[in-house]
Amino acid sequence: MKPTEELSHEHQAILLAIRILEKMSERLETGAKLDPAHLEKAVDFIKVFADKCHHGKEEDLLFPAMEKAGIPRTGGPVGVMLHEHAEGRNYVKGMAEAIPGIKKGDKAAARRFAENARNYGALLSQHIFKEDHILYAMADARLTPAQQKELEACFADVEEKIVGHGKHEEYHRILEELEAAYLS
Ligand SMILES: [Fe+2]
Ligand SMILES: [Fe+2]
Repeated sequence: MKPTEELSHEHQAILLAIRILEKMSERLETGAKLDPAHLEKAVDFIKVFADKCHHGKEEDLLFPAMEKAGIPRTGGPVGVMLHEHAEGRNYVKGMAEAIPGIKKGDKAAARRFAENARNYGALLSQHIFKEDHILYAMADARLTPAQQKELEACFADVEEKIVGHGKHEEYHRILEELEAAYLS
């Protein structure tokens, strides 16, 4: 698999998490039953799978490789992507900080979670669209097959050393569990 294909594949899991968060937000707003442990699992998925692993691969490996290939890190589409990753982190922080209040039955905390989750979903959906259709195509066109092979090896290293052996699959299982609880 090409590095950008691997990243696009991860986008599908992130988009699924966004759909789950949307359903969670609806339940929080209507006061329907919801296990706070599920909120923790969803936020953990976003923090580790989407941010640490996926955005880590982009920020530390793909974007620097693109820079070496002549696509600047600042002022162009890469700069916009970096800015959006940072913006997303704020929404994730907002979600995480609302969970203790939700556990105590605080309705304002439930609304805060829902608002941050929706903002995160809107931001990341358009971010992912731009990467899948514009940025990754630029990378594919500029990076040589040798550079792509090297990137692929570095991605595998991120999975093993930063995220942890077997963790990627574990996060897919968590997502399946949440999908069954909220989207079926
Ligand atoms: Fe990104
Ligand atoms: Fe991405």
